Amino acid sequence: MKIAILGSGGREHALAWKFAQSVPEKNVYVIPGNGGTGNNAPIDSTDFDAIKAFCRYEGIELIFVGPELPLVKGITDYFEGSGIKVFGPSKRAARLEGSKITAKKFMKHYGVSTGNFWLFNSLAQAYKLIEDLNGNLVIKYDGLAGGKGVYVCSSVEEAKEALEELNTEYRYSESEEFLDFLIEEKLIGYEISIIGFTDGRHIQLLHPSQDHKQLLNNDKGPNTGGMGAYCPLPFYTPHLHAQIMEQVVNPTLKGLQAEKVSYQGVIYFGLMITNEGPKLLEYNVRFGDPETEVLLPSLQSDLLQLVLACFDGTLPAHTPQFNPGFYIDVVLAAKGYPKVYEKNNPIQGISDAQDSALVFHAGTKKTDDGTLLTNGGRVLNVVGNGSTLHQAIENAYAACSKIYFKDCYYRTDIGKRSLP
Ligand code: AMP
Ligand code: GLY
Repeated sequence: MKIAILGSGGREHALAWKFAQSVPEKNVYVIPGNGGTGNNAPIDSTDFDAIKAFCRYEGIELIFVGPELPLVKGITDYFEGSGIKVFGPSKRAARLEGSKITAKKFMKHYGVSTGNFWLFNSLAQAYKLIEDLNGNLVIKYDGLAGGKGVYVCSSVEEAKEALEELNTEYRYSESEEFLDFLIEEKLIGYEISIIGFTDGRHIQLLHPSQDHKQLLNNDKGPNTGGMGAYCPLPFYTPHLHAQIMEQVVNPTLKGLQAEKVSYQGVIYFGLMITNEGPKLLEYNVRFGDPETEVLLPSLQSDLLQLVLACFDGTLPAHTPQFNPGFYIDVVLAAKGYPKVYEKNNPIQGISDAQDSALVFHAGTKKTDDGTLLTNGGRVLNVVGNGSTLHQAIENAYAACSKIYFKDCYYRTDIGKRSLP
């Protein structure tokens, strides 16, 4: 079988690497891919006509969608009846990520544990709520904002500024039932990612994992797309797992069935574990990045079989098996990320690093003469494993020290919050 992966980040390189264990490497295509992936096709991941023509020409039968945008734009519906399977939810189901208001209403309606939220049809109402809550709240733009559009506030001034910034950036919608932002209760706790494969009725979960979203050590500095991840989580108890299944995962599956939405794909639960138990912050309708770069190496089972099981109704019989030990991913970024950074700097030392770690490319490109250059803010993912979390961390960082590019920056504390 020939498979195309849509996307260009570390997540997509990890997917291509894992699929190359299911089918010959030459049968795995990446659209558009990066400097680390082979068989790249330079097509925009939302140009569905061009993707279809390419898949027909190459005889590709399965498309695995990495990022959310093609899903929210309806790639799954577009390919329906074409004979080419798309692994990812329908346009309607993708609204669980594409519209935060839709997601919150779904959670409340189906009894999924989550924080309170408020919707508005006038700005005056929003300003009054900001005063009432003393500015301790979270303001979110309803639609996709590529990691921006979320403001965690601690004072009335901050919250008012956030609203103004939202209006400058996106302009409040005019004729809708609600303005296109929401205010949420600010939840306190620690975050974890629970990610699994679903056929819309059943789910098979991968290891629980944790992203490190801030730029600097000890979770300081600006939010980024993710500076590292690790799995499994040593503190993840059977009790916490049971709570998450009962209060979040199972009600979500019931809701998907009740809504009769078609969902064969990955579902991601972004959870805050609070003193009152787990609360869902958000759904993503795709794999997380950088979580995927540790989840797929830790997965022993065949990825293609899991994907196909979501289409043919056999998912309950495909309980994933995992490799022993721990996996951590350190993101090597270009200094200046997530703001302004240089591109086109040569990268050296990857093959040395690969002696003791996996290296998944993100913002890289290969020139015609085969030179590898930086081409993005997050450049590489270095994944170490070990029988203990400590060993996994040692292995990953030993490999990081062998890689060189100008202004390379990485956090030095990935996974360390969970060391005994
Ligand atoms: P999102 O884009 O919805 O994932 O939000 C980005 C980040 O904002 C999350 O990973 C959290 O760290 C934080 N966040 C979002 N919603 C809340 C909330 N209701 N309470 C506290 N923190 C939040
Ligand atoms: N790691 C968070 C995300 O992929 O949205």
